[in-house]
Amino acid sequence: MLRERLGLPGAKNACEEGECGSCSVTVDGTLVCSCLVLSATAVGRDIVTVEALAPDGILSDVQQAFVDAGAVQCGFCTPGLVMAARDLLARSPQPDELEIREAISGNLCRCTGYGRVMEAIRVTIGRRGAQAAGAS
Ligand code: FES
Ligand code: FES
Repeated sequence: MLRERLGLPGAKNACEEGECGSCSVTVDGTLVCSCLVLSATAVGRDIVTVEALAPDGILSDVQQAFVDAGAVQCGFCTPGLVMAARDLLARSPQPDELEIREAISGNLCRCTGYGRVMEAIRVTIGRRGAQAAGAS
């Protein structure tokens, strides 16, 4: 539905069984694997896909950090990982290492080895902290 009917190809279609996280979106603020959500049950609910993070083509801070940290290689997993990172930082602005690992544990990436992904999340946290310190 998202990709073919609504023209939102950001959520990827891979395992189709909730194992890879590449199709992650939020529904009413909860991160879900969209492949497990029947579209009829999502009518009238607030759905955020990765497209919403850069509505004018300007990357969100999480997306920019992924680029800067070299966390985007083939890019197939990136939308799902970005959504997972965004969800983590909304729930826990200062996550520790274990929280970060847990947050991305449902997202498979065959390219990065996850080190760059974790670095991207740390970069985002650092930049947000610096921004908050500059604003105060
Ligand atoms: S395509 Fe949905 S979790 Fe893999
Ligand atoms: S960057 Fe290729 S699968 Fe993650």
